[in-house]
Amino acid sequence: MFEEIKKKIEAIVKEARDEFSSASSSSQLEACRIKYLGKKGLLSEVMAGIGSVPAEDRPAFGILVNALKNSLLETWSSRKPEFFTRPEDASSDAYKGIDATLPGRIVRAGGLHPVSLIQKEVLGIFSKLGFDVVDGREVETEYYNFDALNHPKNHPARNVRDTFFIKNDVLLRTHTSPIQVRVMEKVRPPVRIVAVGKCYRRDASDASHSPVFNQVEGLLVDKGINFSHLKGVLSFFLTRLFGSGRKVRFTPSFFPFTEPSAEAAISCSACGGKGCRICGNGYLEILGCGMVHPNVFNYVKYDSEKYTGFAFGVGLERLAMLKYGVEDIRLFCENDIRFLRQFK
Ligand code: DAH
Repeated sequence: MFEEIKKKIEAIVKEARDEFSSASSSSQLEACRIKYLGKKGLLSEVMAGIGSVPAEDRPAFGILVNALKNSLLETWSSRKPEFFTRPEDASSDAYKGIDATLPGRIVRAGGLHPVSLIQKEVLGIFSKLGFDVVDGREVETEYYNFDALNHPKNHPARNVRDTFFIKNDVLLRTHTSPIQVRVMEKVRPPVRIVAVGKCYRRDASDASHSPVFNQVEGLLVDKGINFSHLKGVLSFFLTRLFGSGRKVRFTPSFFPFTEPSAEAAISCSACGGKGCRICGNGYLEILGCGMVHPNVFNYVKYDSEKYTGFAFGVGLERLAMLKYGVEDIRLFCENDIRFLRQFK
């Protein structure tokens, strides 16, 4: 029984070899392929016969059929390239002046800008944590940008040398924090929001400064919120973004609208937190944060005896620089395609 199958297979191999080698056009070769290797071809027919092979012969049958398949595929693929270099109708008018054997041109799809990539990732992380994404305005009043954020009247940031004023008390926002005030004016706690947007400062541009940059702002207000919630949420966020191998550290800082205030840093990827030429002390400062100052709550008429909250702000370009190892912030707005192509 098995001998019979063996003979049949050998006969197929021989017949197929002859037919494949005498094919003289791509359509003849294709007809051979369908006859032997097609869905309803001879190979499938042989394979379907496994049911009638005695159990002890099945492994040998399997090996034989596989060898048949490989041999047919090999014969077919060894002839296939011949017809690519000799299209049957290459001499027709349609092919005049065209080398049909040239590979096609690669069409490159556009990609997202690295700052957009980071923005998507950051908002994605906070959305999953239940934060709503809100929007703010780039032209603000001094009240929302400074007063309601507890900046004293003589605060240096209010200076015309630091802030772009449009007229008297109208300015280009210097940070995304005014969004906190606008949201709290409209909704009662609990509040859980993140916002992204452009900010403007009268800084000369250099490797780490740009007069226009993007920030992400976050705010969470509810009953019983304390500093451990801030640490938990921001540590989670930073390890999500930079990987669990990085350590997160909080150090005391100062912002007029938070008390206490802190700065969060992640361990340097080059030295792992020991300290090196890149980071200095082992950590790279990333974001500003703190517990919302009671004076800010007073401005938006939240009862600071009843509610507490935390806020944070972080530069998107800074995150992108740290994540992708970009050393000059100006690269983000120069539109050099060789730079942009690296991010997808
Ligand atoms: N607005 C601050 C800045 O531009 C960043 C910041 C710090 C925002 C602490 C916050 C915060 O919401 O709590 O430097």
